Amino acid sequence: MKNINLNTEYLKNFITDEEIKKFSEFVYNADKELTGRTGKGKEFLGWVTLPEEISVSELEDIRLSADKFRIISEVIVVVGIGGSYLGARAIIEALTPPFKNDYGKGEPEILYAGFNLSESYHEKLLAYLEDKEYSVIVISKSGTTTEPAIAFRLLKNHIEKKFGKIGASERIIAITDSEKGALKKLSTQENYKTFIIPDDIGGRFSVLTPVGLLPIACAGINITEIVKGAKDMMNFINNENDIFKNPAYLYSAIRNILYKKNKSIEILASYEPNITYISEWWKQLFGESEGKDGKGIFTASVNFTTDLHSLGQLIQDGNRNIFETVLKLNSNKNNLTIPNSDNDLDELNYLSDKNLSYVNDMAMLGTIQAHTSGNCPNIIIEIPQLNPYYIGQLIYFFERACGISGYLLEVNPFDQPGVEEYKQNMFKLLGKSK
Ligand code: PA5
Repeated sequence: MKNINLNTEYLKNFITDEEIKKFSEFVYNADKELTGRTGKGKEFLGWVTLPEEISVSELEDIRLSADKFRIISEVIVVVGIGGSYLGARAIIEALTPPFKNDYGKGEPEILYAGFNLSESYHEKLLAYLEDKEYSVIVISKSGTTTEPAIAFRLLKNHIEKKFGKIGASERIIAITDSEKGALKKLSTQENYKTFIIPDDIGGRFSVLTPVGLLPIACAGINITEIVKGAKDMMNFINNENDIFKNPAYLYSAIRNILYKKNKSIEILASYEPNITYISEWWKQLFGESEGKDGKGIFTASVNFTTDLHSLGQLIQDGNRNIFETVLKLNSNKNNLTIPNSDNDLDELNYLSDKNLSYVNDMAMLGTIQAHTSGNCPNIIIEIPQLNPYYIGQLIYFFERACGISGYLLEVNPFDQPGVEEYKQNMFKLLGKSK
């Protein structure tokens, strides 16, 4: 079976094979630190071998809880922020239809809360839930993060009024630490079903734990295939020493070589709107892992062709501190052809009988060529198909590359001390006592 692949043909004018070969020693050493668990943040490296450690019975337990929620719920609300939310949303949005009435009969709608503090958002959510049969999955590793804690307090209040205390406790699952935190205490007290986030896995590397897998299973997606894809990618990376054939080695090397050449912004570009949240997850994974100690590549994302009519100008022509990584889906549907028109008033007959995917592919190729000639290096990540198996591969590939890349930058990729600053100010302003 094919793997996701890194296509570097548009990098030739920016990086030579010789440069990559010279850099390979650093990459091997960084990966050795990761797999040998000797580097910075080594107590948070449980995700490295996770795909081969998830047992059939763990997956079954997740699936059973998901099936129960799927039967009793028209809506399932997933409460969380950052790494406790983005992975699930990324995969669910990538693999479920964009229009609500496309959902299969009885298929629950997945909604999200606790990732902002907007009164208007949460007020509308509660109003929407008023006449719905719904359930809640609340996710917080620390169990004390303000945004999901507030959203959960609102939802708990609402769901208890609607279904009674016992009914509500059957409609709530908590995913949190095995011992610590307010959410753990609350779940024990209220008798909620809980899943544990392992101690040695941090939020943004937790999508292959119940944090990601439970909401994803609730959306009817095959989680066994996701884990299988991740495991195959893990084994492939572990066994391929040639930097030119190992996508995680090559990607982390290229990013860091470009960074040393003052390309300090990486834009992840996609041409399919349903993978927008894959980019959001990726931005958080790399941004929160690498951006510290005065270092780090700024992670941004664009949806093309939409953003070719906005940020495309800047990418083509602005400050030359950008490189671009393109997510390219190699199989498109080819179901929708452009019809012929008798009078051709819109002058589109030159495209008659062409698939929309073909037009999109040509837009991609034209853009890659334009941006490359405008001095913006392009890396292409080729994904054979958008399905659970390849999403699993993609997730693990990015996680492993991120760990290596963080070590190449000589930062601790597994902490996030910088996010405390706003919290301290906010707590002071809100008059929190401790
Ligand atoms: O990646 C991370 O560690 C963070 O983004 C956390 O996931 C995020 O801050 C939420 O934390 P918690 O799960 O403790 O509520």
